[in-house]
Amino acid sequence: MFTPSLHPAQHSLFVGEFPLGPKIVNVASVSQRSPFRYPGGKTWLVPEVRDWLLHKTVKPTEFIEIFAGGGIVGLTVAAECLAEHVTLVELDPDVASVWRTLLSDDAEWLAQRIVQFPISVASAQELLSVTPQTTRDRAFLTILKNRVNHGGILAPGTGLIKSGENGKGISSRWYPETLARRIRGIYAMRDRITFIEGDGLEIMRQNAARTDAVYFIDPPYTAPGKRAGKRLYAFNEIDHQGLFDLASTVSGDFMMTYDNAESVRQMAEQRNFAIHEVPMKNTHHAKMTELLIGPTQHVL
Ligand SMILES: C[S@@+](CC[C@H](N)C(=O)[O-])C[C@H]1O[C@@H](n2cnc3c(N)ncnc32)[C@H](O)[C@@H]1O
Repeated sequence: MFTPSLHPAQHSLFVGEFPLGPKIVNVASVSQRSPFRYPGGKTWLVPEVRDWLLHKTVKPTEFIEIFAGGGIVGLTVAAECLAEHVTLVELDPDVASVWRTLLSDDAEWLAQRIVQFPISVASAQELLSVTPQTTRDRAFLTILKNRVNHGGILAPGTGLIKSGENGKGISSRWYPETLARRIRGIYAMRDRITFIEGDGLEIMRQNAARTDAVYFIDPPYTAPGKRAGKRLYAFNEIDHQGLFDLASTVSGDFMMTYDNAESVRQMAEQRNFAIHEVPMKNTHHAKMTELLIGPTQHVL
């Protein structure tokens, strides 16, 4: 069993009570900065992350979100300067094409492409049948898919939004001006954000000795017991034990989120990590809890 001691750079969040108390965050109160509507998106966790970082005595040099997805947490950290720099890591090449474009001089092209696209079932289907030839075309297609597919799911086998959603059918999640504004907002912060297409675990391993880096870890939920992540993400094979082992070796602080499954609790307990249950509402507005996991606490 691992019983790592807490490095001085790993304070924590987890000493004592859960900072913001057991209340459900109203996601409408969090600025939505991502162009994605991401399944499993962590908008609801933003206030906790903010609180965690603001309580640090020294601002982290780098905030590394190793499973970026829609990246709402990293974007908020960059926008509110809660760390000197933000690094987002994502393995899915479709999602990666969007991040690459957002942080490049093609961002304005993407914003314009979205605003000018005449959305309809026919136009979406026509475009989705074509293989994109450039990174920016792939980015546009990914945003389109994310907006018109049921639940925002990009994994293969997902159909278009049902015609009745919000009574607006295919365009019920297509907000061109809002998307363009978010894209321009991200481009404006590009100096503070680095995107890496690759394996988040590998990036964490490379940074393991650093005390000035912190990690936000939101993997696909595919640990034994609950396996929602398999359906939601094209890339969902994670070595969960390996991820927990890696987390126990890094010198920087981390916040990990997982679904509330017995297998997850066991992995955390075996490594003497701190565990907190946080309430949230899922997309069907059912109340449920997720787990927040952090480094071992000091024995007070
Ligand atoms: C739960 S989602 C992250 C959601 C994100 N926190 C948000 O708020 O939008 C997990 C993401 O990890 C990505 N992923 C899966 N395996 C990965 C790996 N080895 N390295 C980096 N990203 C990975 C998936 O493609 C998916 O986008």
